[in-house]
Amino acid sequence: MRILVTGAGSNVGKGIVPRLRAAGHDLVLSDLELLPDAAPYAGLPFVQCDIQAGFGLEGAAQGCDVLLHLPAWHGIHSRSKTEADFWRLNVDGTFWALQAARSAGIHRLVFLSSQSWHDHYGKYGFTKQVGEELCEYHRRNHGLRYVAIRPHDFTPWGDDYLNRYGARLLYGGVDREDVLGYVEAAVEHLGPNLPGGADPEGLVVDAVRPNVYSEEQVRDWEDDPLAACERVFPGSRDLIERYAIDLRRRPSVVAGGDEGPGAAIGYKPTRHFGTFLDELRGLDAAGGPDAVHAATCPY
Ligand SMILES: NC(=O)c1ccc[n+]([C@@H]2O[C@H](COP(=O)([O-])OP(=O)(O)OC[C@H]3O[C@@H](n4cnc5c(N)ncnc54)[C@H](O)[C@@H]3O)[C@@H](O)[C@H]2O)c1
Repeated sequence: MRILVTGAGSNVGKGIVPRLRAAGHDLVLSDLELLPDAAPYAGLPFVQCDIQAGFGLEGAAQGCDVLLHLPAWHGIHSRSKTEADFWRLNVDGTFWALQAARSAGIHRLVFLSSQSWHDHYGKYGFTKQVGEELCEYHRRNHGLRYVAIRPHDFTPWGDDYLNRYGARLLYGGVDREDVLGYVEAAVEHLGPNLPGGADPEGLVVDAVRPNVYSEEQVRDWEDDPLAACERVFPGSRDLIERYAIDLRRRPSVVAGGDEGPGAAIGYKPTRHFGTFLDELRGLDAAGGPDAVHAATCPY
């Protein structure tokens, strides 16, 4: 398929471009900022445009089958960007991207929403709520099939591997590789170039980590977090103590049913606090605390 990727320079863009290339798709990239002429972008057509201004994308959309729409101000921008900034990029930008897709005859869309959608009337959540409504508007009126993906937090963790990456997987966090897996599965789910039809599909998918424990198993967590963690993840106590991982809060349990939140698009997330502990154990065995504390975010 030929896929137009807006916001291709984003964190998601950097990760999904090589995956989609490897899967054999043709890509057309767009962003406000120029992209480096190096991997993973080298050799791909690129259109620079300010998506919130409402022009510049129509040409890039011609001949494409799918729009993957990524740009947004989000959680980490809440302090530096105003309500108007959020509205212009997340709402106006989404509207104009969908209009460009429409005028180029694109009938398929993957839209990056967010778990912040649940914060309906927050500065960020509200724009994601309206963004999803724009997808639905275009589905109803212009035959657009779409998958809206709602990830939990996967922002880069810098050098805080233990808490910003590891412990975050017990709370509102998801591994970035899983987010990329959901996005790729959504693109593949939209499949061959079917016209939208009278009642095209509109799907919303939570891009969250898998559940590896039940509500019941973590109910009394805060009474004795180390003991509770040891029950759920046998052999964890030593590592948690040695690396002072902060587990005081009760972990969250994600919704999604027995089949998991990605079932509708055939994706099963694989990373969670248990896989982090396995990785940590390996690092610790290989290089001890020096190796663990030297770990930095690869994206
Ligand atoms: N990062 C997270 O933890 C997280 C969590 C949930 C949902 N999301 C959603 O995932 C999507 C991607 O997030 P990310 O963290 O990869 O993004 P990012 O912050 O890394 O990148 C945003 C991109 O948008 C581009 N951009 C900014 N203004 C633009 C404009 N006017 N015109 C065109 N492009 C413009 C930037 O150049 C950049 O490449 C967003 O829609 C976000 O809401 C992210």
